[in-house]
Amino acid sequence: MTQGSGQNIGTLHLDLGDRSYDILVGEGLLDDAGDLMAPVLDQPRVVIVTDENAALPYRAPLEASLDRAGIAHQCIVMPPGEPTKDFATLERLTGQLLEMHVERQTALIALGGGVIGDLTGFAAAVTLRGIPFIQIPTTLLAQVDSSVGGKTGINMPHGKNLVGAFYQPRMVLADIGTLDTLPRRQLLAGYAEVLKYGLIDDEEFFAWLELHGDGLCDGDSSARRRAVLTSCASKAAIVAQDERETGCRALLNLGHTFAHALEVQTGYGDKLLHGEAVAIGMVMAFDLSVRLGLCPADDADRVRTHLNSVGLPVDCRSLADASWNADKLIGHMGLDKKVKDGRLTFILAHGIGQSFITDEVDGEAVHGLLSDVLAA
Ligand code: NAD
Ligand code: GLY
Repeated sequence: MTQGSGQNIGTLHLDLGDRSYDILVGEGLLDDAGDLMAPVLDQPRVVIVTDENAALPYRAPLEASLDRAGIAHQCIVMPPGEPTKDFATLERLTGQLLEMHVERQTALIALGGGVIGDLTGFAAAVTLRGIPFIQIPTTLLAQVDSSVGGKTGINMPHGKNLVGAFYQPRMVLADIGTLDTLPRRQLLAGYAEVLKYGLIDDEEFFAWLELHGDGLCDGDSSARRRAVLTSCASKAAIVAQDERETGCRALLNLGHTFAHALEVQTGYGDKLLHGEAVAIGMVMAFDLSVRLGLCPADDADRVRTHLNSVGLPVDCRSLADASWNADKLIGHMGLDKKVKDGRLTFILAHGIGQSFITDEVDGEAVHGLLSDVLAA
């Protein structure tokens, strides 16, 4: 992975042999998107896949930049929201692409958040057995996480993201200016994933976020740029080592085993956004580490204090009702993709920036933590 910058564009390179690609981060990139992507296209033709919320402000500038670069384009607009990431929509989308007579060289452009990125990436992976795609993420979560690394897929009635493919984009264009229209709650949900990189292996970044997190959430574009670049660099370094999550990529799931249980329990809706569940899950992961005598309590307090100060939830008490209990939540964890040989995998921490993967967590300790959280 390399990092450079020119014309105020930060460029990272994710090194995956013949599937390597650049991640470009900057403000106003959308206006130059056509010229920036032209070198990685196999033909001057693309199909934009987007949702109504991202299309409203960003379809026209993207199309104008494609016109200027001489790239022919068509556009498919989806309804916004998680239900769009399902099999029926995938079937409709691939059908529309075939009706448009896309060729093996025609690229898809995912313009939107993680829902559009995951769906479009998977459609690209399976249409004509694989056509190119480019990610233009417009949520903070998508800019720092879902657009990088090639996990694509859809949800099934059996669970989230259970059908999909590892399929890398040709380029990621993260225009941080698009975050200006993002509702604050969605921005904060993405911020939880930013913080995750500090907690995994970069205490200095965590300390920087303690100082600049509020500014970032309030619109400081230089803080946003640095946070997106640092997050993408961190993710790219991990993916370059372990593209298919047979080892260290699992670190990116810090907080996610707990988050998954909370999301199943709350029904994957507006009640609890993914990033909010991850925030609570990261606090639980640190609390569990403290209980197991692995991590100083001060570090867990620092995590809780910072998440709380930016306005993210740090526990699930306000969500829980009498139907919630520790056994139920642990049962939900068992349905997660992170189960291996029947054992749950957790990401725990020896401290901030010192996370590690383990499948040797005592079930009683997890039960005790969840029971105490729900009883508090
Ligand atoms: P999302 O795509 O649903 O976007 C959130 C909301 O913001 C939507 O209503 C969307 O229409 C709207 N929106 C998008 N960009 C906007 C903008 N610039 N201005 C105003 N509104 C805008 O949600 P998300 O949080 O981006 O992504 C969540 C999805 O990502 C989940 O399906 C999750 O499973 C997936 N995910 C995938 C990976 C991966 O590695 N592939 C990683 C993390 C999450
Ligand atoms: N979001 C976790 C991963 O990409 O592996």
